Amino acid sequence: PHTATRDEHGVLTVGGMSVVDLAAEFGTPAYFLDEADFRARCRAWREAFGDDADVFYAGKAFLCRAVVGWLREEGLNLDVCTGGELATALAAGMPPERIALHGNNKSAAELHRAVEAGVGRIVVDSFQEIARVAHLAAELGVRQKVQIRVTVGVEAHTHEFIATAHEDQKFGIPLAGGQAAEAVRRALKLDALELLGVHSHIGSQIFDTSGFEVAAHRVVGLLRDVRDEHGVELPEIDLGGGLGIAYTAEDDPKEPHEIAKSLGEIVRRECELAGLTVPRLSVEPGRAVSGPTTFTLYEVGTVKPLPQLRTYVSVDGGMSDNIRTALYDAEYSVALASRASTAEPMLSRVVGKHCESGDIVVRDAFLPADLAPGDLLAVPATGAYCRSMASNYNHVPRPPVVAVADGAARVIVRRETEEDLLRLDVG
Ligand code: LLP
Repeated sequence: PHTATRDEHGVLTVGGMSVVDLAAEFGTPAYFLDEADFRARCRAWREAFGDDADVFYAGKAFLCRAVVGWLREEGLNLDVCTGGELATALAAGMPPERIALHGNNKSAAELHRAVEAGVGRIVVDSFQEIARVAHLAAELGVRQKVQIRVTVGVEAHTHEFIATAHEDQKFGIPLAGGQAAEAVRRALKLDALELLGVHSHIGSQIFDTSGFEVAAHRVVGLLRDVRDEHGVELPEIDLGGGLGIAYTAEDDPKEPHEIAKSLGEIVRRECELAGLTVPRLSVEPGRAVSGPTTFTLYEVGTVKPLPQLRTYVSVDGGMSDNIRTALYDAEYSVALASRASTAEPMLSRVVGKHCESGDIVVRDAFLPADLAPGDLLAVPATGAYCRSMASNYNHVPRPPVVAVADGAARVIVRRETEEDLLRLDVG
């Protein structure tokens, strides 16, 4: 992990604590989150975008009450996409006006709760939803701020399952065929809605900004058409999240200030060309805030060499705490964390304890040939979409998240127990 160091015995330490001590206190598998790093990332995003833009952390990456507190204190807003995330945000005291609600099929109850709570914006995703939100707001006697999620029709260079701006998928209202323009027409007619602007999210784990350029060009094009048709300049553009992080040494992510600079320039340039006042920009990074802050610590259970092939190293977690390798062919790195070793590297595959062969945590890794049961392995960059996508497959309780800071560690999400699992089983 990028904020971790090794002590004089070669033991990995984070936030002033050794992983050997952490494992003894909290058990394995467990996610260890560097709180100072999390806060520093929030600040870096906030400062990079300055006062002319808003940064919404995408809670789907990882959300719990402690995280909401950090966001609140460090000046970030929060994007939630379900009633559960909204409930967490409100329970942890996020001011409603700093919350945005997303989703392609928000339930009536979710919308009701959001409007009633006074969330700062609802990103509407369909014609039905425009009508639903307007109806609800009218009923509750408020004017609800909304953005319209549009599909700009670009192919983001990422895995198919996490690309969201090509036309043939479920999110947003297509610009193509005038559908987005029609959505704007309808929203502008509804007194219970205050149309703030347009939203585009092109996908996730993206490194080059060319997709954002195309998106900004097309979104600004829509704003220009709206001005020409209705004589109003919509005041906001949201370009979504999706900024990539380093999972392995090959990944070369940009820093928040570089991203802010290029997105700002792109939007300004497009607006100048279109003769529009530059709207307020917002972005929604999830992975780029929380991903690098956390590593998963596992204990090795078995080491199984298969001659001529590779060595299978089984750990005490797997696809239930990190589904990303199985689901997206994601690449991770892994390191022996509990000691130094000068043994030869051996080609290894780190696998979990679940009952299927696709249960792979790290597909290809070199680990020292003297690796043995009881050794601890650290897999970095698991702070986004690992705990939040964790499951109870095979009735494995989900691991805890432990925040480490200044030589102290505290559980922010506790380990699930067998009693937790049995509690739901009421038959
Ligand atoms: N905004 C919207 C509207 C989104 O749909 C998403 C992610 C984000 C922001 C945040 O994207 P980020 O900056 O974290 O890439 N489970 C997948 C990623 C799916 C993301 C879905 N939406 C994964 O593990 O890679």
